[in-house]
Amino acid sequence: MSLAVDPRAVESLLAFWADAGVDATYADEPVDRLAEGAALLRARSQPPPVVASPRPTLIAGGAHDISVAVAQARAAAAACQDLDALAAAIAAFDGCALKTQGAKQAVFSRGPADAPLMIIGEGPGADEDTQGQPFVGRAGQLLDRMLKAAGLTDRAFITNTVFWRPPGNRTPTPQEQAICAPFLERAIGLVNPKMLMLVGGASAKAMLKRDEGILALRGRWFEWTSADGDQELPALPTLHPAFLLRQPAAKKKAWQDLLTLTERLDRPERPH
Ligand code: URA
Repeated sequence: MSLAVDPRAVESLLAFWADAGVDATYADEPVDRLAEGAALLRARSQPPPVVASPRPTLIAGGAHDISVAVAQARAAAAACQDLDALAAAIAAFDGCALKTQGAKQAVFSRGPADAPLMIIGEGPGADEDTQGQPFVGRAGQLLDRMLKAAGLTDRAFITNTVFWRPPGNRTPTPQEQAICAPFLERAIGLVNPKMLMLVGGASAKAMLKRDEGILALRGRWFEWTSADGDQELPALPTLHPAFLLRQPAAKKKAWQDLLTLTERLDRPERPH
């Protein structure tokens, strides 16, 4: 029996997987899964080997101790007097494990250094990893169209909570975000924007230290505070453009969020 396959359905399915981070669908050599399974069964019947490697330091709750990496990031970030120095410090930093998990390069920012708005996404994807700039893939192009429609082109400094592509586009872990946070906070200090737009749940949760999902957080103003308490800024969470590509009906909500944001951004400041 032969099945007629609609090429548009195939294209749409591939686009769905690409959005989900699956960007390789074949290997160079055929894989014999039956032989793999048989080898696995044989291995399971053997007693496990005794491995005498040092154990990673664990802290309460089972998470790896990231305090050394955070302290190193904080020292490196504090030494940077401008964004070029910060970009170089990020690229040279070895404390975030994402750097060694297949990322091609560090991805820091794009946009004017004195932008009144800072947009913070989750982390670089495949296109960003290749091009070295945040939000340049399909989701980024949608973000740019939305910013243009809202009159925000060239008024936003765009970056992410982590600076290396998580493997397979998985969500960055809170530990990875915490290690990169000192660099992000330094970027906020150097750009000195009037407000932040937090794009997607992983960004909103990390920046605001909240547990709710993005659908509960979006469209509401929060106060972002830096770890040392010295910086405070209004922050508006919104839906991630990658989500909007999958759920176009949600664009209306994202547009409402952008209007909420521009209204505050363009509100004349009251004289002190
Ligand atoms: N998604 C993000 O959160 N950031 C990017 O830079 C690209 C896609």
